[in-house]
Amino acid sequence: MNTTALGKSELQVSRLGVGAMTWGDPAGLARLNPAKLAYGSAHGFAEERQAVEVSLAAGVTLFDTAAMYSAGASERRLGELARDKPVVLATKFPPNPLSRAEHLPQALDASLARLGRRSVDLYQHHFPSRRIPIPQLMELMADAVEAGKVRAVGVSNYSAEQMRMAHAMLARRGIPLASNQVEYSLLHRQPEVNGVLEACRELGITLIAYQPLASGALSGKYGPGVRPSGLRRWLPYFRGNGLQALVPVVRLLREIGEPYGKSPAQVALRWLIEHEWVLPIPGANAVIRRQA
Ligand SMILES: NC(=O)c1ccc[n+]([C@@H]2O[C@H](COP(=O)([O-])OP(=O)(O)OC[C@H]3O[C@@H](n4cnc5c(N)ncnc54)[C@H](OP(=O)(O)O)[C@@H]3O)[C@@H](O)[C@H]2O)c1
Repeated sequence: MNTTALGKSELQVSRLGVGAMTWGDPAGLARLNPAKLAYGSAHGFAEERQAVEVSLAAGVTLFDTAAMYSAGASERRLGELARDKPVVLATKFPPNPLSRAEHLPQALDASLARLGRRSVDLYQHHFPSRRIPIPQLMELMADAVEAGKVRAVGVSNYSAEQMRMAHAMLARRGIPLASNQVEYSLLHRQPEVNGVLEACRELGITLIAYQPLASGALSGKYGPGVRPSGLRRWLPYFRGNGLQALVPVVRLLREIGEPYGKSPAQVALRWLIEHEWVLPIPGANAVIRRQA
């Protein structure tokens, strides 16, 4: 697995990451979080440990989580599994939708405690909100970098305009904006037309592609008559015309991959990796390991 710098930061990452959104064992109401409801119940510690080991053995070192995933349970699990391993940890602020920018220092310390680390490799702003002004947040991000608690700064779900603002604010402090994590897959091509991919290329910012397999729709497992379990089955990809529309896409992915012994999912991920500035983070689970 090749490595590359994340944007113009000093952080070296693999060209493919792993999304740990559904990992960990949440308690209480956190069990009802949208990701768990969408994808089904927890994989469990042993499976997630194996996913980390298999990934590292294949040279995949970047793992993505967020303070908001299962109210911190995903961070806690990833921290536990990554201990003493060469794992590059990416997490996100804020811990809940009501947080304000000034909560960042406290939230960062809480994430570090859950991850069991002195610094976060990549600290990302999860999504823009009126409660969190970008200039104020980027000043706090820069403070965290200077304090040695954050190695690289990223954003997520930012428009091209918001990215440019964050980039400019950080540049004043001599810090690069390393990444913007947005939805991007063969079935979701918005970054190509909304200016985000172009701004990434122009400014040297990595586009971290989330849901790179369109929530599993590009895996080849689903089609008319075969829908996933969990609330995910109600996504447009997995019902009515959406399922029908998957048929030619998956057929083509198979045709492309078969001569090389590659699965539709591998071809779909490779298509993203072929873009110089794009780094996909598929969500891993046990089924993937069995196929690997
Ligand atoms: N920043 C944000 O706002 C945001 C939002 C959403 C997600 N994310 C990040 O993106 C990551 C990935 O997103 P996601 O899990 O929702 O979508 P995804 O990666 O597009 O889809 C995950 C699903 O794809 C299937 N899959 C994955 N690898 C496969 C392989 N090698 N072969 C066959 N099937 C494979 C599995 O489906 P089955 O379960 O059907 O086997 C898995 O559950 C998350 O973990 C999170 O870190 C970020």
